[in-house]
Amino acid sequence: MARQGILYRYEKDLPLTQATPRITLLEGDTPLIPLKNLSRELDVTLWAKFDGLNPSGSFKDRGMVMAVAKALEEKSNAVICASTGNTSASAAAYAASAGLSCFVLLPEGKVALGKLTQALIYGAKVVAVRGNFDEALRLARELASSKKVTLVNSLNPYRLWGQRSAAWEICDELSEAPDWIVLPVGNAGNISAYAAGLEYYKEIGKINTMPRLMGVQAEGAAPLVRGYTVENPETVATAIRIGNPVNAEKAIKAIQMSCGQFASVSDEEILEAQRELASHDGVFAEPASCAPLAFLLKLKRSGKLPQGLRIVLILTGNGLKDPDAPLKGLPDPIAVDGTIEALGGVLGL
Ligand code: F0G
Repeated sequence: MARQGILYRYEKDLPLTQATPRITLLEGDTPLIPLKNLSRELDVTLWAKFDGLNPSGSFKDRGMVMAVAKALEEKSNAVICASTGNTSASAAAYAASAGLSCFVLLPEGKVALGKLTQALIYGAKVVAVRGNFDEALRLARELASSKKVTLVNSLNPYRLWGQRSAAWEICDELSEAPDWIVLPVGNAGNISAYAAGLEYYKEIGKINTMPRLMGVQAEGAAPLVRGYTVENPETVATAIRIGNPVNAEKAIKAIQMSCGQFASVSDEEILEAQRELASHDGVFAEPASCAPLAFLLKLKRSGKLPQGLRIVLILTGNGLKDPDAPLKGLPDPIAVDGTIEALGGVLGL
């Protein structure tokens, strides 16, 4: 079936009214890619839900299409968000398409270049806040409560509604739930959306079992693993560089409900997983999206990964958004004179 966008595909499952405009940039319906080589190496059946193939290159489009449709329904003229990069790229894209103004607050100097470029080229008004994401979000919330502008961070309930669609697509495609779903956690909205989506699918009989949700954070920004706010979060995975997740309570419930767990991985482990995903199975995802694979590789190394599980990794963002971080660990291209002899020598052919 041709791609439709999630407001069409999941019309009956979402809180839409007749007055909700059915906008779309053809988000959703992203591939569930079998990772053949990593499956063999880890002794499990592994898929990647590649949400980096959404229109703005991340899973945020699933929630943003709902949030912007509802903003239009409520006759709002402008949207605002704080962001580590992907939310702002998505908000700016959907606002442009819907004819709304978009205001974006970014932690200064900590947003990947691709994401910053996206927000700017889609026409958002972009502000670099001297502070981290948590501080930028506090400002965005304050502005949204006092001015006529709609907050489209994951505090906006429609965002998480739209993001449920990823869990539905996985279960629809597999005709059942996998054993584990492993996903990166920053502000903790997405894991909460998966939990809500899966609970709903269980209620309406589309799945019989609840997958374990594994939420993976970066070691330097792991408030949910530590159990307290991290004042100065730091990680190469800038998308999840968050010390005080606003959806923490919901995420803790999601873990309890699904018998899952929170875990953390180091920056080195994240970058290694990113290289393995790309070089073993041909999929390039941004650093934050590779924290889940880093967790599985770590479990495998310590002999704690049960054999034969059916596992879905959620690749939340496209690798092309942030080439700087992985490039540092890769060799330079080999410079040669433009002759066959020189090339042959270098390539060993
Ligand atoms: N992966 C990527 C690529 C992200 O951009 C984010 C969050 C997450 C995972 C974590 O999702 O916050 O729902 O737990 N990015 C937000 C942003 C914070 O502003 O783009 P979460």
